[in-house]
Amino acid sequence: MHPSEEIRFERGEELKGKKICLCVTGSIACIESFYLCRDLIKHGADVHVFMTESSTKFLHPDLFEFASGNKVVTSLSGEVEHLTLCGDSDLLIVSPCTANTISKVAFGIADNPVTTCVVSAMGKGKPIIMVPAMHLSLLEGVKDNMERLKKKGIIFLEPRIEGDRAKIPERETILENVIRVLRENDLEGRKVLIIGGASAERIDDIRVLTNRSSGRFAVELAREAFERGAYVELWHGWMRVRIPPFIPSRKFEGVGDLLGMLKDVKGFDFVIVCAALSNYIPRAMDGKIPSGIKGLTIDMDPAPNILEEIKRAGRSKIVAFKAEEKEDELISRCEEMVKDYHMVVGNLLTSFGEEKTTIWIFRDGRVSRFEGDKRILSRYIIDEMVR
Ligand SMILES: Cc1cc2nc3c(=O)[nH]c(=O)nc-3n(C[C@H](O)[C@H](O)[C@H](O)COP(=O)(O)O)c2cc1C
Repeated sequence: MHPSEEIRFERGEELKGKKICLCVTGSIACIESFYLCRDLIKHGADVHVFMTESSTKFLHPDLFEFASGNKVVTSLSGEVEHLTLCGDSDLLIVSPCTANTISKVAFGIADNPVTTCVVSAMGKGKPIIMVPAMHLSLLEGVKDNMERLKKKGIIFLEPRIEGDRAKIPERETILENVIRVLRENDLEGRKVLIIGGASAERIDDIRVLTNRSSGRFAVELAREAFERGAYVELWHGWMRVRIPPFIPSRKFEGVGDLLGMLKDVKGFDFVIVCAALSNYIPRAMDGKIPSGIKGLTIDMDPAPNILEEIKRAGRSKIVAFKAEEKEDELISRCEEMVKDYHMVVGNLLTSFGEEKTTIWIFRDGRVSRFEGDKRILSRYIIDEMVR
């Protein structure tokens, strides 16, 4: 068994049975392609690498043979790899993609293994992702050619502009876009807003009232909706997990900040509110409350009901989360709540911050119970939301 088999499915099965052609061109960013190849395999893909001659000056093909467990194509042979290997593949990704390669394929030039595969895949209507990485001046210089290719259905991932460089996006962004292209896109054309994390209400100038929410569910729901083709935004409070780089996000502190953001809620088809928002807002003091005060009391007032405000602000279908300490109490509260919202997801307080949990999904007079990690549960929640 080739060593690359040892890592297959290490991170998931989203790309199980998928054959991917990874085309590498002569940009310094090709150093990232080794890890991208490994990530694709870790999610189950069978990866075949094609290299341009200039990319072989940066990295030796043996590196990619080791990474993929397959022979690397550096020149086309009597095996007509552009028709066989590439023809059988589910997706072609050119990462990194040079200005040179963009411009050649924009005009149908097929003079090396990569350009020939891309031109041929374009002719077959196969999904193609291009990941440009170059100096900003080069990017400007080939803008028109990129537009030409976009019109032909090629998907371009936006580079990260840093100074005068158009850098390759994070690997996670590239991987998630591959999964998105290959998964069923039942949320295509839909806009989904996820509101997650913990609110933090000001007590004085340095202290806040917050809670143990990690924001993990919000991130997994955002990822799931993204992979299913939606335009996704994440509005978040304090988070103990990393926000995926491929999800546009906006931060709020207290419920008051979030309230101010609701003017932008219109236009979202679905709003999933899994944030742990404070029910009370302290009457904050200026400066710092001195230490040593015995029996210190902090006055609080009820916070606005964000779910009701979202309902007032737009016509989105609202998925509300509810957490309670005891199961029977949770179920009766959710049954009551679902009368007012598209769907309600109930979970117990023990769920906070954990990777695995139990949820109850309430919709249309039905309740279903699921157990598992938040990644898998997010799939069930979105399934039920779009049903
Ligand atoms: C050190 C070095 C770094 C380069 N980096 C890039 C780059 O990031 N992006 C790019 O478009 N071209 C870059 N080039 C230029 C390409 O390698 C050159 O245009 C080449 O013809 C591309 O060939 P290919 O598209 O067949 O791989 C670089 C060249 C050198 C020598």
